[in-house]
Amino acid sequence: MASNGTVSPAVHTANDGEVAANGAQQAQPRIWAVGGGKGGVGKSLVATNLAVRMAQLGHSVTLIDGDLGGANLDTLLGCPRPTRTIADLFERRASSLADIAVTTGVVNLALVAGGDALGAANPAHAQKQKLIRHLRALTSELVILDLGAGTSFNTIDMFLAADVGLCVTTPEPTSVQNCFAFIKAACLRDVELRTKVQRRDLDDAALRRISTESPQARAAIGRGTSLVVNRAQPAEARRVANLLHDLAVRFLGVQVRLCGTVHDDAGMSRSVRNQRPLCVAEPTNRSAIDIDTLARSLWTPEASLATPGINEEILHDGARLHVQTEDLGTAQGAVRTQVFLGDGSVVFTRRTPYVDAFFEKLSAMPHERARFHHVAIVRAVRSGRLGSLRRSA
Ligand SMILES: Nc1ncnc2c1ncn2[C@@H]1O[C@H](COP(=O)(O)OP(=O)(O)OP(=O)(O)O)[C@@H](O)[C@H]1O
Ligand SMILES: [Mg+2]
Repeated sequence: MASNGTVSPAVHTANDGEVAANGAQQAQPRIWAVGGGKGGVGKSLVATNLAVRMAQLGHSVTLIDGDLGGANLDTLLGCPRPTRTIADLFERRASSLADIAVTTGVVNLALVAGGDALGAANPAHAQKQKLIRHLRALTSELVILDLGAGTSFNTIDMFLAADVGLCVTTPEPTSVQNCFAFIKAACLRDVELRTKVQRRDLDDAALRRISTESPQARAAIGRGTSLVVNRAQPAEARRVANLLHDLAVRFLGVQVRLCGTVHDDAGMSRSVRNQRPLCVAEPTNRSAIDIDTLARSLWTPEASLATPGINEEILHDGARLHVQTEDLGTAQGAVRTQVFLGDGSVVFTRRTPYVDAFFEKLSAMPHERARFHHVAIVRAVRSGRLGSLRRSA
């Protein structure tokens, strides 16, 4: 514990291999959220089939029906309506999501049904935070969260809490428009959470000011959006992704990456009518193969969370130090801060796992970890708690 009362990660010097000593090494699941502004664009089908495919590939997966107002993933999976839902967690009749999860008939795949009890569609802030904490406590390798349509705070906050946020759209102009509105809402909410500037005060000028005042903070704002274009030919999907990317870079300063295309296919609606997921019923179908490609591309370490680095120059003990913090992504499950001297030599390294008590005590959301870590180390350097880093070079 640092003297100012804030928690500080355990201190190690110049050894990249070291990890913080405290905190049990319980693996946390990767969380992929599937959202998008418009209703009916295929979010639930993409989420469900992605979950089925990842389970078929041998990963333990929990699919969460996060569409709290219109939960129906049990129907898409063809399993009986679970008697317990997220509402049971909110109303304290269940103590964890694992208590509520049910088997689905697909090996390795569990389902947490959405709550449709009064109030579950609009959980209070504390309930939402509780849900986010409980997602991380699941013991499956992967959690896939299907979100409802729209840009409400609840939906956006769940989207931002995930390691990977997939935004689904079709090529139709109305869907693309709503998708941009969703990306913008996520970006503004992200800025609001990072800077404490109220979203209503965040006009284009405010965004530009943030960008001018702190290029590093701006670079870290918005982790970029991973786009899935559904019901599209690959060329159409590229056109949609380019359009959204250009708009997002121009107006929001964030990037949009095309992660996957899913063809329009009669097999998809057939699978809904038959209540059998496409990847189970027709695994060689064209859109099932699209889902397979998407699943495999998302699971690679490069595609996992990796927020841009934070860089800062500080003067300490007569030396100019460069402090760099990187989120090493879900594959490594850690954040690392290094301090360099002007000649490029590393004089200090701290690598803290996501599961460390440091992040837990601060209730750090995934996108906040690097910043919290960075600030703690800069404070430690400035206060002299790390000694004279110049001498240890
Ligand atoms: N690739 C596809 N090919 C053919 N039809 C599709 C495809 N994707 C989705 N559909 C059709 O669109 C319907 C809506 O899909 P889905 O329920 O996944 O949308 P959603 O975005 O989750 O909707 P909501 O916002 O209401 O939750 C499906 O029932 C299916 O008929
Ligand atoms: Mg849905």
